Order: sequence, then C-alpha cells, then structure tokens
Amino acid sequence: MLIIILFLAIYCWVIDGRLASTNVLISSKLYTMGGIINSQLDSNFFYFDFSIPFDTSLQSYNYLNSIPVNNAWGTASVGGIHMSEIFLFGGIMTNKNNNSLSNTLIYCFDTINKTWTVPKISGTQPIRRREASSTFNPNNGWIYIFGGATVQLNNHIDTILFNDFIILDSVDLSWVNYKSPLNAPARRASHTATLVNGYIIIIGGTEMTDNFTLKDTDINQVIITHNIMH
Ligand SMILES: *[C@@H]1O[C@H](CO)[C@@H](O)[C@H](O)[C@H]1NC(C)=O
Ligand SMILES: *[C@@H]1O[C@H](CO)[C@@H](O)[C@H](O)[C@H]1NC(C)=O
Ligand SMILES: *[C@@H]1O[C@H](CO)[C@@H](O)[C@H](O)[C@H]1NC(C)=O
Repeated sequence: MLIIILFLAIYCWVIDGRLASTNVLISSKLYTMGGIINSQLDSNFFYFDFSIPFDTSLQSYNYLNSIPVNNAWGTASVGGIHMSEIFLFGGIMTNKNNNSLSNTLIYCFDTINKTWTVPKISGTQPIRRREASSTFNPNNGWIYIFGGATVQLNNHIDTILFNDFIILDSVDLSWVNYKSPLNAPARRASHTATLVNGYIIIIGGTEMTDNFTLKDTDINQVIITHNIMH
C-alpha cells in the first residue's frame, strides 16, 4: 500500500525529459511546449504555476490541450491585445497523423479560453526557421523574431542561418515590413533575444561565418539593438 501511494506522489511530478522545447512566462505561469523525447517530436503543452506557494508534495505540472502539431526548435512569445495569448512560430512542425512536415507556420493559444487556433496573418509570410528567438514589445504588441536556421528534416548540409528580424504584429495580426537597422551581425541560431529596458539583447548561440562555417558565438560578444520602445 505504501508503495502505491509513493508511486502516485512521484507520478504527479514526472514529465518526460526533452530537448528543443520552448517556453513563455505569462504572469506567474511558465508555459512549456513541444520538444524532442527519445528522438520523437512531441506536442505536449503544460505549465507550472509559480503563484502557488511552493510545496513539493502538492505541486505538479498542469497539462493543457496539446499543440495541434508536433514541434521542436520553435520559438514562442506572449502576444495579443491583452497579452494573454501565446504565439508559437516556426521550428520543425510535423502532422501528428503521418509525421510529414506541416505547412502551418504559426499557432496561437489563448490562455483565457484555452484553445489553439491558426491565426490568419496578413502581409508577406516569412520563410520558416528553427532555433530563432523571439521577444515581445508590450507598447505596440510586436513580436520580434531574430535569426534562426532553415528547416531541413533529415540533412543539415544546406542549412543557412539568418541574421534578420521578422516582426509579427500580434494585435493587428500582420507581418510588419521591417528593415533592421542593425549592421548585419553574423548569421546566428540557438541564441536568445530578450527585450531589456527597451533594447533587444542577443546573446550566445551558433554563428555562420562568410565561408559558411559554423562556430559557437563568443559569449562576450553581445548584440544590442537601438531602443525599440521609442
Ligand atoms: C499528412 O496529414 C495532413 C493532415 O494532417 C495532410 O494535410 C497531408 O497531406 C498528409 N501528408 C501526407 C504525405 O500524407
Ligand atoms: C478563443 O479565443 C480566440 C481569440 O483569442 C478565438 O479566435 C477563438 O475562436 C476562441 N475559441 C473559442 C473556442 O472560444
Ligand atoms: C572560415 O573563416 C574562419 C574565420 O571567419 C577561419 O578561421 C576558417 O579557417 C575559415 N575556414 C575555411 C574552410 O576557409
């Protein structure tokens, strides 16, 4: 009997280990989605609520409706007029029924009604990319997505890295035609792009040099944009 109780208690905590998932923090909830478990792309979606006093005997991950596709190496951001939506962009997305690549580039989860939708976004759709990083400007609802790599399912020989921003207006649901004022930094993927006091700070990851060689980014080399909140 004791063994069964112990098992249930542990089960509450357990979530499969994964790589290449993506996270979003909205108020005190950290949402995590997708990733790769035992070489399989995954569609799990769950959150951890940090507003509840920490008690390891009670705390557990809360599962939500899984992503409509399997996803790994995507990037997710808060968005929408009430900042209550999650926009999951790019990465490798595969259909759950046949594991072929999905044509959908972006999914939106509304944290109020707890449903996934495919938002209709006007403007020129950017090319799919994986290992990009996104950050949200609460002043205008724009999601800035920097860098990333082209998506190849089985070979990486033709992989190209990006060094531009693509911008999604998450309120108007449009792709913003935007020319980055950055002096073309090196192409990069697997970095982080984070809005801090109005500036987007880009750190780490992998760089592609002019001769198409990949190398780890020098962690002392940080890219800082102009102040985007002005
Ligand atoms: C895989 O399934 C999706 C629907 O989920 C369908 O649109 C697509 O055509 C299918 N692809 C193949 C190769 O069967
Ligand atoms: C949930 O909200 C979104 C807008 O954020 C809307 O597009 C969708 O239709 C809603 N779904 C349901 C089931 O109410
Ligand atoms: C590629 O460029 C890097 C410096 O950017 C250099 O160190 C490396 O030797 C070059 N590789 C080739 C194959 O030319």
